[in-house]
Amino acid sequence: MEINILGIESSCDDTSAAVISNGFLLSNVIASQEVHSAYGGVVPELASRAHQQNIIPVVDRALKLAGKSKNEISAVAFTRGPGLLGSLLVGTSFAKGFALAGRIPMVEVNHLQGHVLSQFVHEKDKKVSDPEFPFLTLLVSGGHTQIIKVSDYFDMQIIGTTIDDAAGEAFDKCAKVMGLGYPGGPVIDKYAKQGNHDAFKFAKPHIANLDFSFSGLKTSFLYTLRDEIAKNPDFISQNINDLCASLQYTIISILIEKLSKAVKQTGINRITIGGGVAANSELRDTLQQTADKKGWQVFIPERKYTTDNAAMIAGAGYYKFLKGEFASMDIAPDARLKF
Ligand code: KG4
Ligand code: ZN
Repeated sequence: MEINILGIESSCDDTSAAVISNGFLLSNVIASQEVHSAYGGVVPELASRAHQQNIIPVVDRALKLAGKSKNEISAVAFTRGPGLLGSLLVGTSFAKGFALAGRIPMVEVNHLQGHVLSQFVHEKDKKVSDPEFPFLTLLVSGGHTQIIKVSDYFDMQIIGTTIDDAAGEAFDKCAKVMGLGYPGGPVIDKYAKQGNHDAFKFAKPHIANLDFSFSGLKTSFLYTLRDEIAKNPDFISQNINDLCASLQYTIISILIEKLSKAVKQTGINRITIGGGVAANSELRDTLQQTADKKGWQVFIPERKYTTDNAAMIAGAGYYKFLKGEFASMDIAPDARLKF
């Protein structure tokens, strides 16, 4: 029997739909919302309106690219949370309508578990190996920075988390003060390639356990800019590459140091990464180099599966479908969903 899962992701500012057939990805369509770039961050009300406009064309395109009709879909998997409530509501309501019309079951997916399980999204004909359980996932996005111990597909434990800003927020907020627009991560990544990472020193947190903190770094970055601009109004434009390289280097050292500590504490040296910041080229390179040095086994997904996407939701939904775990029609989105 063919099992076709339609996945819907709408937790933040990307509207996405994907189709997975018997575990293999057939399509993954993402409509990103440009409207937020002028505001330096996601505006929740604008995000939910854009989701409403995008969701039907995005699903339509995902079905067409997959070569599947609505009638061939076995279940619809959707992101229930965590995320922005207004954005989650659009995806959840769409999933309910689709399931009701097609008389098919719904599967709820936790967005963070989706990111972790993006490691298991496979396209036919592309051979990639899956990590054995247990493994550690470094989940770094605009909303989350966590180290998760993954014992099985849905047996996960957060062993470290941020106590203030997320890693992606550190990129985005620092980019905003440099006038680089939103999202800041990809732009900083680009400028950093031409910069010297030793040019500036920014504060690093001293936290004993596996938790993260980025607010001190953000403040130290702001103070450097303030002091330097007082001496030279063109300081940012004249030093943009070095600023980006030094900032990125500091963020990545914080992440890698904590990950090394987690490996030491748990004795688990199989590592995966997920979340938008996992698209960062220096993070990917540093992780690989650290792994080679320390004998870790790392699994780095393709960039398109690290940022928000519905392939990971359809994938997680597929495993839940196999377990017969369905959501009821009265399910509501949960902006602070835990697992
Ligand atoms: O996972 P994601 O698409 O959405 C959330 O769930 O938050 O992550 C978005 C975050 C933003 O903060 C963005 O600046 C960051 O991922 N990001 C990057 C890169 N690409 C996206 N950060 C650093 N380097 C990148 N190349
Ligand atoms: Zn995400």
